[in-house]
Amino acid sequence: MTDLIPDLRTPTAPEGTGRVHSGMAVSRTDGRAKVTGAAHYAAEIPAPDLAYGVVVSGTVARGHIKAIDTEAARGVPGVIDVITHENRPKMRGNDLAYKDMTAPGGSPFRPLFSSRVFWSGQPVALVVAETFEAARHAASLVRVTYDIEEHDTNLLATLNRAYKPRPMKAGFTPPGSKGDADQAFATAPVKIEAEYYNAVEHHNPMEMFASTVVYGEDGHLTIYDKTQSSQNSRWYVSHVFGLSKNKVTVRNPYVGGAFGSGLRPQYQLPLAVMGALKLKRSVRVVLTRRQMFSFGHRPETWHKIKLAADRDGKLQAVWHEAIQETSRLEDYVEVVVNWSGQLYACDNIHLGYQLVEQDRATPIDMRAPGAAHGVHALEVAMDELAYELRMDPLAFRLKNYAEHNHLEDKPFSSKELRQCYRLGAERFGWKDRPVEPRSMRDGDELVGWGMATGIWDSLVMIARVSAVLHADGRLVVSSAASDIGTGTYTVMAMIAAERLGLPLERVTFQLGDSTLPLAPVEGGSSHVTTVGGGVAGACDKLKATLLKLAQKAPAFKGLKLKDVEFNDGRIHPHGQPEQGILLSDLLAQAGRERIEEKYLMTPQMLKQRKFSRAVHSAVFVEVRVNERLGMVRVTRAVSAVAAGRIINAKTAASQVSGAVVWGISQALHEETFTDHRLGRFMNHNYAEYHVAVNKDIPAIEVIFADEEDRIVSKQLGAKGVGEIGIVGVAAAVANAVFHATGKRLRTTPITPDKVL
Ligand code: MOS
Repeated sequence: MTDLIPDLRTPTAPEGTGRVHSGMAVSRTDGRAKVTGAAHYAAEIPAPDLAYGVVVSGTVARGHIKAIDTEAARGVPGVIDVITHENRPKMRGNDLAYKDMTAPGGSPFRPLFSSRVFWSGQPVALVVAETFEAARHAASLVRVTYDIEEHDTNLLATLNRAYKPRPMKAGFTPPGSKGDADQAFATAPVKIEAEYYNAVEHHNPMEMFASTVVYGEDGHLTIYDKTQSSQNSRWYVSHVFGLSKNKVTVRNPYVGGAFGSGLRPQYQLPLAVMGALKLKRSVRVVLTRRQMFSFGHRPETWHKIKLAADRDGKLQAVWHEAIQETSRLEDYVEVVVNWSGQLYACDNIHLGYQLVEQDRATPIDMRAPGAAHGVHALEVAMDELAYELRMDPLAFRLKNYAEHNHLEDKPFSSKELRQCYRLGAERFGWKDRPVEPRSMRDGDELVGWGMATGIWDSLVMIARVSAVLHADGRLVVSSAASDIGTGTYTVMAMIAAERLGLPLERVTFQLGDSTLPLAPVEGGSSHVTTVGGGVAGACDKLKATLLKLAQKAPAFKGLKLKDVEFNDGRIHPHGQPEQGILLSDLLAQAGRERIEEKYLMTPQMLKQRKFSRAVHSAVFVEVRVNERLGMVRVTRAVSAVAAGRIINAKTAASQVSGAVVWGISQALHEETFTDHRLGRFMNHNYAEYHVAVNKDIPAIEVIFADEEDRIVSKQLGAKGVGEIGIVGVAAAVANAVFHATGKRLRTTPITPDKVL
């Protein structure tokens, strides 16, 4: 079944790349295609007779659409249709049909389903025209009137409405507690108590959300969608429109960043499908940058933390409660406070987590959801307590190092955090740090050094992988995985090439098509452990089959897999390359054009349940602060990460340094502002939503600790690196700002007005 799909433009390493092994730094096989334009994204797929859809965004935060006047829009030359809730094609009515594979509990938004308005910016109509320009102009002429209801968009003003997420509804396990944190806090000699806050952030990948629906002669829909899972989008379209699985194929061979925003189908997808079904022709819908601020974000978070220690610096109480926003539609939950129960050794732990419904789109996962905010608050609090104790912040963390997960009372499957602390501190030069704030100055600027710990889950999901060895010696490995810029193509090809001893250019890993074998969303830093484990499994089965074929030759009689080597397209007994047989000859002798093996990758659940499984990091940063201007610059950053065995040193380091960039951006720049009178995000563009640019980012050093984890990943010993890089960065920056200035800042971002 799974040979190369011809028009997917699947990349392969250039000739001459040769043999690779895990841990090597290998350039991305898709790199050339991405920088030369050969890689086509969802909005770039050509289709004959293509029509263009432009979304009309609603302008009130809550209420009903009273009327939509589309007459002027319809009068624009080239306009084909204006689709609204009144004339849309048939869609299913029940919640279940709208539940994509990563939907939180509740009732998902149904685009153009009814007159109900749930947030400002919600899509209310789609204008379809022969040209993009006509559609865009016509969209500006659509007049919508509303019955407006009162709205809430102010989390801090509505904390009193907080409720515990309903476990059944949200699929949510409440965070546990242990001992008596209140009592321990009351009696401990050294303590801190404070509130922390993180502003709303938006994902802002470079590529806009887009869907091109190619309408086939037989009504088959081939949809190029910006998504972190082609199969998730396929599932959603089938269910919402009642189309059989065979009628819909979704593809995402290239994705220009997503960071969680593509974990759920975004509204341009059903809108483009509506257009295609209604008009029986191909339709493309691309969102604008402004509309990219209208479908989900990292939720605003409020925390209260109480920490207490004895005079020697031993933690006596960890108390962390958080309240986050969700929408009126769904109980979106994040793991915000749980990290506070597992990062340090403590017998008295209290954790609490609540939600407040707002008239906003349901928040959506953003890189290290929950941890990026939760660990920020905890790690700033830890720094505060270290100062109360007059202890070095790193020494304080080492004093409370958790050898096991105290909250759950479980050992870690692996934990080389000590190595991270040591390697990171050495590289940074932490031992020369004066303890007192305001003790380093350089010209107009105060200099500060801060550090923090990071932690993130090590997840494994379920995937199927197919590996096909062709008669010409080429290996094609496939799974409906995604590469959102993370290096999936490269890493999966490396795993297969190493397993079978082939030069990298003889191996192609194919992804990005919903008809390929089952793969999970590319999320939770789990693709290497999950899809990669499947690649290893399928290749191991292929090796066993090839050995069976080789055993017809006398030199291989009675040999087991451990007795043979696969080298440059041959199989030979250990140490006897002269006995080698070409794999292509094995196929020819057997009269086979191809040999295919399939593997179902599943987590070792029973084994895993006995362990706490996480990746760890230690982040060290230097800042320079101009007190008169309130300006903070990060001038050095070291991130030491323990994430199991690293498969590709280059793409793994890129993942971490990219995440550190974002952590610095979160610490200093990123914040989406709401005008609460309108209930609307206001700075929905790159001019006013600031992201870090080159000048904001120093050289970032990434170090990987020596670690291997066969509980998480039996096949590879890996744990995943996508998200850990951002966790702790904002806290390290905040702690460095305190060290520089003596001013404790407990919110992100740290903008000049707060520093002054
Ligand atoms: Mo990640 S937020 O699981 O794409």
